[in-house]
Amino acid sequence: MEIIRHEIRKSGVLPFARFMELALYCPDCGYYEAKMDIGRRGDFYTSTSVGELFGQLLAFQFANWLETEVRSQKSEVGIVEAGAHDGRLAGDILQWLQLRRPKLFDQMDYGIIEPSARRQEWQRETLKIFAPRVCWFTDLKSLSRATRHSSLHGLIFSNELLDAFPVHRFGWDAKNKTWFEWGVAVAGEKFIWAKLDNSEFPSSILNIPSSLLAVLPDNYIIETSPAAENWWREAAGALARGKLLAIDYGFTAGEMFSPARTRGTLRAYFRHHVTDDILANPGEQDLTAHVNFSAIQQAGEDAGLKTECFLTQSQFLTRILEKAAKDKSSGELVASKRVAASQRSVDGSEDGWSAKQARQFQTLTHPEHLGRAFRVLVQSR
Ligand SMILES: C[S@@+](CC[C@H](N)C(=O)[O-])C[C@H]1O[C@@H](n2cnc3c(N)ncnc32)[C@H](O)[C@@H]1O
Repeated sequence: MEIIRHEIRKSGVLPFARFMELALYCPDCGYYEAKMDIGRRGDFYTSTSVGELFGQLLAFQFANWLETEVRSQKSEVGIVEAGAHDGRLAGDILQWLQLRRPKLFDQMDYGIIEPSARRQEWQRETLKIFAPRVCWFTDLKSLSRATRHSSLHGLIFSNELLDAFPVHRFGWDAKNKTWFEWGVAVAGEKFIWAKLDNSEFPSSILNIPSSLLAVLPDNYIIETSPAAENWWREAAGALARGKLLAIDYGFTAGEMFSPARTRGTLRAYFRHHVTDDILANPGEQDLTAHVNFSAIQQAGEDAGLKTECFLTQSQFLTRILEKAAKDKSSGELVASKRVAASQRSVDGSEDGWSAKQARQFQTLTHPEHLGRAFRVLVQSR
């Protein structure tokens, strides 16, 4: 990636966050600018790529929230998704709403926040049958501008967006009892890790209690993502009334700053293999780090939001399924209580719950698959 070499030549050691930003989002050669698949043919799976059930369950929950909003406020409502990638999740949600909640579907808009013109194109292609209902914003500022007069009532959500924001990577020098920041330099053809001279350390690092610092091993690594926290704060500001929701893999601060996790959570994914060679082949592999949900929650609360729940994906989706099972209008989501309760059955042929849906539900909620590592944060205004 010539652009990274160029920036290193200009500035010396480059903060890792800038390396990650260019590797993922450089308009010419960033990883997310190439038309890459998510799922079996790509580098990694997401809940969306498991099948349409994920979007259907979210659609049922969103419809319940929004219908209450429409009744109480008599106002127009909207769903806004960020990190929509190829538009597949939006398509699953819109399809379910159109079929099962046509009145709400006709009353609402579905907005997508998408900075990349290229990704907007893929999304427009996927969502062309829903064209009149879908609109695009390049960022949260343009969403706020567009909704300033009416104010956004509804919800802003993302699935695996926050883990894709650039992170800063810090190391602990146990001998000198100081933190330092890792940056990137060049050695011949290769990118290599190098310490940065001047860094600002975030409060989450500076406030680590001395009792914990005393047991951190030398070169203990931790990442922070001010970009993700800023994004959440800004999203909270764009929401006049409703909910802000993130689904992602991540930890609370307590889980994150564990002395046992010595290598941090930053990973590279290439064709379903996790590699530690984070700096290899920028633009060709995905780079991602766990979300610090305590920091995100705090950013939302600082912006005036109230935390409604912080659950594992398994708990969140199981609650939705239980509600759907009681609601006849949920159509194909009416599942056998046996499956909802135990999650053990995969044949699931009772009560209209197909084997395919049961398999999808298991993958989404099983602790060894996506059920435990993925967390759901819901805040509201
Ligand atoms: C891991 S993918 C999302 C997967 C997708 N939501 C799903 O359910 O399969 C992360 C996406 O977030 C996009 N993204 C990164 N920064 C963004 C931002 N500031 N606003 C909107 N999307 C962003 C990336 O380009 C990429 O398409």
